[in-house]
Amino acid sequence: MTYCDFLVGVFLFFSSNRFTYEIAPVFVLMEQLTLKKMREIIGWPNGDGDGLFSPGGAISNMYSVMVARYKYFPEVKTKGMSAAPQLVLFTSEHSHYSIKRAGAVLGFGRENVILLKTDERGRVIPADLEAKIIDAKQKGYVPLFVNATAGTTVYGAFDPINDIADICEKYNLWLHVDGAWGGGLLMSRKHRHKLSGIDRANSVTWNPHKMMGVPLQCSAILVRDK
Ligand SMILES: Cc1ncc(COP(=O)(O)O)c(C=O)c1O
Repeated sequence: MTYCDFLVGVFLFFSSNRFTYEIAPVFVLMEQLTLKKMREIIGWPNGDGDGLFSPGGAISNMYSVMVARYKYFPEVKTKGMSAAPQLVLFTSEHSHYSIKRAGAVLGFGRENVILLKTDERGRVIPADLEAKIIDAKQKGYVPLFVNATAGTTVYGAFDPINDIADICEKYNLWLHVDGAWGGGLLMSRKHRHKLSGIDRANSVTWNPHKMMGVPLQCSAILVRDK
């Protein structure tokens, strides 16, 4: 296949209706296979799990918050936010605005998206995450979700995913990795280590239209459990 064939394929894929297998059997199968391959590259066993191509990284990040809330508080789907306690989310002060926007759009409230301090290279300080989780719990809030960014928009910083994953496991929180920008490094033998621990995430945003150079808007939200 030439690069030109590939571009035509991408164009047809993203300009077509892919709602159901009956409407677009080939494209639906292409989407499933591509997402499975991406999950394998993340390191989830057999590429199992779930996912979708979405209109962009901001939407993929919003889906991650929705899925986390559904996993821990499924009754919100039918009863609304009053069925959940006062939930809080955590993300770096350098993370993409879409996490704060997800908090606003999904009814958590922007003030309940708690910003984490970063070091001199723009990476989240794990001790600050743990301190803020403890503080939130003492105030009666329920921590739900932590976003670690793999490649921040301005600095290109990679949060220490393994350290953050340890804290998420300790407090039973959903870990999302926003690899919209830096996810492409998973394809690099030399730089993949920057995302070490990504296989411990519950969900990952990865935008092939950024570092991988896909010329049309192309973002995936990938989830470890079906
Ligand atoms: C780290 C990060 N996350 C999410 C996004 C949002 O991606 P999109 O522009 O595809 O909505 C960006 C965009 O720059 C980003 O840098």
